[in-house]
Amino acid sequence: LPSYLHKLLRYRTPRQSWASSEMYFLQCVLVRPDRCQGLEMDAATENEEGVPYFFKGHFLFKGFHGKPEVANETFPELDEYHHLGHVDAAFLMHYEDEPTHHDRIFLFLDNKVFAYYQHKLESGYPKNISEVFPGVPDHLDAAVECPSPQCAIDSVLFFKGKDVYHYIPQNKTVHKEDFTLNCTSTFRFMEHFYCFRGHKFSKFNPRTGEVNGKYPKEARGYFMKCSKFGADSDHLERERCSRVHLDAITSDDAGNIYAFRGHHYIREFENDTLTSGTIESAFKELHSDVDAVFSYNNHLYMIKDKQLYVYKVGEPHTLLAGYPKTVKEELGIEGPIDAAFVCQDDHIAHIVKGRDIYDVDLSVTPRVATNKRPIAVFKKVDSAMCGPDGVKVIVGSHFYKFASPMLFVASRAMPQPHKVSRDLFGCDH
Ligand SMILES: *[C@@H]1O[C@H](CO)[C@@H](O)[C@H](O)[C@H]1NC(C)=O
Ligand SMILES: *[C@@H]1O[C@H](CO)[C@@H](O)[C@H](O)[C@H]1NC(C)=O
Ligand SMILES: *[C@@H]1O[C@H](CO)[C@@H](O)[C@H](O)[C@H]1NC(C)=O
Ligand SMILES: *[C@@H]1O[C@H](CO)[C@@H](O)[C@H](O)[C@H]1NC(C)=O
Ligand SMILES: *[C@@H]1O[C@H](CO)[C@@H](O)[C@H](O)[C@H]1NC(C)=O
Repeated sequence: LPSYLHKLLRYRTPRQSWASSEMYFLQCVLVRPDRCQGLEMDAATENEEGVPYFFKGHFLFKGFHGKPEVANETFPELDEYHHLGHVDAAFLMHYEDEPTHHDRIFLFLDNKVFAYYQHKLESGYPKNISEVFPGVPDHLDAAVECPSPQCAIDSVLFFKGKDVYHYIPQNKTVHKEDFTLNCTSTFRFMEHFYCFRGHKFSKFNPRTGEVNGKYPKEARGYFMKCSKFGADSDHLERERCSRVHLDAITSDDAGNIYAFRGHHYIREFENDTLTSGTIESAFKELHSDVDAVFSYNNHLYMIKDKQLYVYKVGEPHTLLAGYPKTVKEELGIEGPIDAAFVCQDDHIAHIVKGRDIYDVDLSVTPRVATNKRPIAVFKKVDSAMCGPDGVKVIVGSHFYKFASPMLFVASRAMPQPHKVSRDLFGCDH
């Protein structure tokens, strides 16, 4: 779109309403942003029914997929205040002991705040931000509610540049936090807190501002269902969201995850891009239905029935000469097996077979399966992997985290389950 039209569309004044249907058409069709192109959102919040709202310019994306609406369809009054520009920040106040503001969606534009209750603008709004949230600056970048116990007391965090303002509704006090986050929008989802910038996001601790783990990540991989994001996208959506158990999973030395299910595999690159394809296309000799896989010395050790296939990691993956060999001959244990994993920089392969786990020292030959121990907490393990944050054991559509192989074996209590689809592959439903 020519830049003069962009300007016209963005900087119209209250009196320059959309005179012609052509202009409305332009706004809706030509300028309608596509979140799968990698957008930086202006603001994000959930509504009172838990539907995610992402604001971009005059548009509103609802949920994790689909085209945007014009924001004024849901928030008609925004239209009367064109000069305020786009929504800078948004959050949902859900504090029952704050009856006047409970379940309100607050939208911040310039120096004004709009409060919506059950889809209606509250009377008296918009108000000056300083009137409703004394001590909170105008022209915000982001806002997010932080209820107890995620914050010590029900609070709201406001972001502007490098400053974070911690606002306590109960006594209307505000203090600055010493965070180093730099967010253009923030989002609280399933009790986690996300800071967005560009098309990336980081999960942060709302008490300390700390970001732990491999961040920033690509938002399209987690918060947007983009079928065309990543190669071979047809299988991808189905595979990442499938509730069917994984046959095998591993992460290679570079941090790429490979997961196998039936005839397909998913690969999650270190940069969080997901791709998927047929096993036939990438591991021709295996065809389908892998039982277990582990990574060792830049090779993928893939087990199917009584056979072990060793592939050199690369594009394409190549089967080493002489393989497949029998599992018995190579690992000193009779196949088939259920799961296998090697932790980073270690040379012990942990082999799960039925309700037992064995250790195989890969640095010596011939290899022998030793140290047989029963697994207490699971009757059956589908697959397992070991990474920098410990062992992930996959059973059905869930996985369970253990800090080490030893804790996995010794544990008597089932840890909290995580969803494979959502928490491992970022499926949103
Ligand atoms: C939303 O804005 C567009 C363009 O300004 C206008 O044509 C439309 O009537 C508005 N819709 C509502 C519900 O206000
Ligand atoms: C809101 O802010 C404007 C500009 O700072 C000021 O002129 C106005 O008096 C304020 N309104 C109220 C109700 O405080
Ligand atoms: C925030 O990030 C933007 C873009 O990466 C950068 O230009 C800006 O200097 C950063 N601000 C702070 C305070 O880190
Ligand atoms: C407001 O409440 C918080 C949390 O209870 C407390 O730490 C703070 O001292 C209070 N501030 C004032 C001015 O009362
Ligand atoms: C992520 O890495 C893979 C492999 O290096 C590359 O093909 C892909 O384009 C990268 N994706 C992004 C979004 O950087």
